[in-house]
Amino acid sequence: MKLVFATHNKNKAIEIQSLMPEGIEVLTLDEIGCTEDIPETADTLEGNAKIKADFVYETYGYNCFADDTGLEVEALNNEPGVLSARYAGSAKDPEQNMHLLLENLSSHNNRSAQFRTAIALRVNGETHLFEGIVSGLITAEKRGNDGFGYDPIFQPEGSQRTFAEMSLPEKNGMSHRARALSKMLDFLSEKITK
Ligand code: IMP
Repeated sequence: MKLVFATHNKNKAIEIQSLMPEGIEVLTLDEIGCTEDIPETADTLEGNAKIKADFVYETYGYNCFADDTGLEVEALNNEPGVLSARYAGSAKDPEQNMHLLLENLSSHNNRSAQFRTAIALRVNGETHLFEGIVSGLITAEKRGNDGFGYDPIFQPEGSQRTFAEMSLPEKNGMSHRARALSKMLDFLSEKITK
């Protein structure tokens, strides 16, 4: 079975292909001739993931999965959440986003936060949702040089280091995205390939 991953990022797709059960071939958007950015206009992570998976299924006729991730900060009513990429504006600049978040959190003692990933899988006409969460704290300042996005200011529960101070395999061992993906892969192994 061919399964489209609604991303333009070939590396993400290669990484995921290596985790797929036998018999499932992962294709990227570019590989099916979709070069546009699918607009993410929903007000939830699940909604955005579903928009992308539905768009591919309905426009190109492929089974598909799509993900959307947000950082939810308890003291800020779970913001930036679905707006994580654009928190400080349409430039989607991670430095500006982190700066704004630290500023908005400066008067709060509660630093609890979580990364949450939603995956929508549209397969054989049905939609299935999977969620992955990692809880942690927003640090007082940036630490570490690895990773991307909000990694330098997010310290996962049980660790003294931020995601940006971890190697990629270490982060992947506990990340929100890896947890959501692993639920989808379990589902595919059990339900689809049998
Ligand atoms: P996306 O849904 O994967 O595009 O993620 C939306 C935004 O959330 C990104 O632009 C990043 O700012 C942030 N984000 C997503 N995943 C991570 C992560 O693993 N670490 C840090 N920031 C992330």
